[in-house]
Amino acid sequence: MRTEPLPPVAGLLAGRHIVLGLSGGVACYKAAELARELQREGATVQVVMTDAACQFITPATMQALTGRAVVTSQWDLRAPNAMPHINLTREADAVLVAPASADFMAQLAQGRAGEILSLLCLARPRERCPLLLAPAMNREMWSHPATQRNAAQLRADGTVLLGPAAGDQACGEVGDGRMLEATELCDELVAFFQPKHLAGRSVLVTAGPTFEPIDPVRGITNRSSGKMGFAIARAAAEAGARVTLVAGPVALATPRGALRIDVGSAREMLDAVLPLAPQHEVFVATAAVADWRPAEEAAHKIKKDGSGAVPALAFVENPDILATVARLPAAQRPWCVGFAAESQDVERHARAKLQKKGVPLVVGNLGPATFGRNDNALLLVEADRTTELPRADKLTLARQLVAAIAERLPRPR
Ligand code: C5P
Repeated sequence: MRTEPLPPVAGLLAGRHIVLGLSGGVACYKAAELARELQREGATVQVVMTDAACQFITPATMQALTGRAVVTSQWDLRAPNAMPHINLTREADAVLVAPASADFMAQLAQGRAGEILSLLCLARPRERCPLLLAPAMNREMWSHPATQRNAAQLRADGTVLLGPAAGDQACGEVGDGRMLEATELCDELVAFFQPKHLAGRSVLVTAGPTFEPIDPVRGITNRSSGKMGFAIARAAAEAGARVTLVAGPVALATPRGALRIDVGSAREMLDAVLPLAPQHEVFVATAAVADWRPAEEAAHKIKKDGSGAVPALAFVENPDILATVARLPAAQRPWCVGFAAESQDVERHARAKLQKKGVPLVVGNLGPATFGRNDNALLLVEADRTTELPRADKLTLARQLVAAIAERLPRPR
């Protein structure tokens, strides 16, 4: 299945100034794309490179991509005060070193400051300029006790390590140590800046349509794009939650940090959700589950017989996944959020659904005005109040919904 990224939301890093540090490693080639990606999201990017990094990619490339003079030496005297190591981080919202080599991590762990990049990391105002590292090295170097010791020390010092991932390495070996891809690092940085409303909590989300087979090649589905549910999974992961996303057939990229389980029919979705529900504290049912399915699934393709007769399809009702979860015994029941896609009278219908499904929160929206679109408007309907979330892109709304859920969620059991 073709996958496309979530709808581009303008400027997820708008207004942020990032110092992008490069230490030596083949993964420097990914730093060029990363610089572009960060700027695409609205950040301004100041590149700082070690001597070793300059062996892998030129400052000219990074300068052309960022439109800012690259700093490669602590003896760079362009600023009147001749203190690049101080100036660079005083205006930055974060320092991201990608790639971070084994040697660079060792220097940082020891507090060494022998060249511009380690020097500015040491000299940065730690309270307001966090340091994030994207390690990139051979798997033996990464797993070496010295590197692991340094990584643990860096974490203890408040440094955030992004990755590394496992996979093919430039040296031909396969294992842990690959730098995350540019888009992954960009998503990590976006998430880093989000408030951690759901740190340590767990969220189960259903998303997309279901597909109810008629025969091996045909079926019945609907126009749900899955975008709202995927945005909620992303927002919950950004907020620090452990997220499981049960997705019907959609062509969307899995939000970073979410565990995705693909299903087809409503019954498959129910089978996936039921054992997972007691393992999560929140259940957000955004899926547009088909209300009915063909009573019989033909074993073979139903053929035209030339007589003009059409097959008579009979339907049976699908299980209601949300209502089933909402009826679990209290000790196994997550805090349930339902969705109501209506074509009119959103509040009245959502309020009726609140009662019928027995859930504490139903999110109403106008179905035809949201299916497939990148924006939406939501109405949070609860027993004692109604809250409007005005039209915005789906990620913004999802973040607001996640914040609202976090406010209402009972303390961990
Ligand atoms: O009953 P209705 O489809 O209008 O309710 C919508 C809400 O119930 C959504 O949260 C949807 O995900 C959920 N639902 C479900 N299983 C169904 C039908 C709806 O979980 N079979």
